[in-house]
Amino acid sequence: MNQFPENFLFGAATSAHQVEGNNAYSDWWEFERIQKLDPSGAACDHWNRFREDFDLARALGHNAHRFSIEWAHIEPREGEWDGFALSHYEKVLEALRERNIIPFVTLHHFTNPVWFTKKGGWERNDAAERFARYVEHVIERLAPKASFWMPINEPWVLVSNGWLAKKWPPGKRSFIGAWRAWHNLLDAHKKAYGVIKRYAPNSKVGFNVAYAAFRPTGRKNPLDKFATTLARYQDTTAMLNRVKYFMDFIGLNYYRGFSVSAIPPFIKELGERKTDLGWGIYPQGLGQALHELWHYQKPLYITENGLADANDSQRPRFLTDHLKQVLDALHDGIDVRGYFHWSLLDNFEWADGFSPRFGLVAVDYQTQKRTPRPSAYLYRDIIQSHRLSVS
Ligand code: FCB
Repeated sequence: MNQFPENFLFGAATSAHQVEGNNAYSDWWEFERIQKLDPSGAACDHWNRFREDFDLARALGHNAHRFSIEWAHIEPREGEWDGFALSHYEKVLEALRERNIIPFVTLHHFTNPVWFTKKGGWERNDAAERFARYVEHVIERLAPKASFWMPINEPWVLVSNGWLAKKWPPGKRSFIGAWRAWHNLLDAHKKAYGVIKRYAPNSKVGFNVAYAAFRPTGRKNPLDKFATTLARYQDTTAMLNRVKYFMDFIGLNYYRGFSVSAIPPFIKELGERKTDLGWGIYPQGLGQALHELWHYQKPLYITENGLADANDSQRPRFLTDHLKQVLDALHDGIDVRGYFHWSLLDNFEWADGFSPRFGLVAVDYQTQKRTPRPSAYLYRDIIQSHRLSVS
């Protein structure tokens, strides 16, 4: 297959805390201060500039856009609902519709209201109910304005960074805490699925996973193969098995591949070429991910894929190599329906701060000036022709 289907969705993704700015009621805001991290501050000021950013997305050919709604804005204090914040997101959705851009809405992208985290956060027994209450507030009002929803972004990434690696809030190392948070996040996904379906039965609710590609170091070594199966199970299968009856599609975020062995060093990153963050570039892993996830027989959307590359030296090839994997998967009969590059804009990359540059569009944080990188135009040409070979 050398052409994308007519109705294929092409866009880019962002998340609230990483681009909006001034997320002062969130646990991340406080964490940045306490840990003396690069403060997210005004970020890309996308809260005020979303219209011009969507103008750019439109000019760059995007027909879909993924963004997240910030719980800490909607419920800044426990039980207090900020109507102004809800109207804001209503305007965001209207702005996308006016530009014929289909929204994919994430309801939780790593950040929580600080009151929630202080009261035990995702470890609490009633965490999923609290989240479902927030979702209901959003959905009551916004359901008619979007058809694609993803309740929770990358649950396992949140758990491993927050409860095992101590890199993200709540900054703990606790296996019991990690287990409880994991369990509650999946429960929250299921509850949110129910709430969304109640208000908007025709909407599509997806489960989002960070999908690393794993391959056994010794291709025929049974121990390496077993280790790979275990890694797969722990990373995604365990979650997908729990939510498989509560998903209309899978949103997969693909960045990296690893070879796995039964003896130390157990795991080794694949890909000779490296991004600015030192991550290996391994496009075949995206093809592998699509094949493996097709096991669930649900439509697949690549809801994130990208790289830190400040001078845009690798992004053009990265884009075409990964999109080629998508075309091959389509050719093999896999139902892939969309691709969202991470990210539309340079943004706040969590504990790594502002230095990694993931944007199709460069942001000057002093002036907030936006400048599309050459790869943004390459992507536009691919979108316009629905083909990779454009010259
Ligand atoms: C993903 C996150 C996203 C961004 C990229 C680089 O794990 O969902 O917010 O940080 O990595």
